[in-house]
Amino acid sequence: MLGPINHIAIAVPDLAAAVSLYQNLGADISQAQHLPDHGVTVVFIKLPNTKIELLHPLGDNSPIASFLTKNPSGGIHHLCFEVSDIRDAGKKMAEHGIRILASGEPKIGAHGFPVLFAHPKDFCGTLAEFEQVAAPESPQ
Ligand code: CO
Repeated sequence: MLGPINHIAIAVPDLAAAVSLYQNLGADISQAQHLPDHGVTVVFIKLPNTKIELLHPLGDNSPIASFLTKNPSGGIHHLCFEVSDIRDAGKKMAEHGIRILASGEPKIGAHGFPVLFAHPKDFCGTLAEFEQVAAPESPQ
């Protein structure tokens, strides 16, 4: 079920400093997007084979605020794997005892596609996001 890594998300305490670091290394950088529904501002660093997603808290109830309290210099927050069918991915994880965070139902993620997050305790201590980046193939 695991497709390519869609992005590696890094939480940063200072977004401008992080952008300028990558700019200095010649990276292809997107405009900042403010996503109040998700409590984050994101900037994408486009690399030849994947993206780095810089995450910075937005608003009072940002899901990454506590991460930055524990990791004041920032750090890797999650990995995102592409999957072809988000419901199949959720089923497969349940079969293997991998807990899904929140309601367990796919939600529309920061990029407009359905996502699920696996519990880090069931995934080698890593927060893993699964994103269905295209409509699943309809059965013939
Ligand atoms: Co993500």
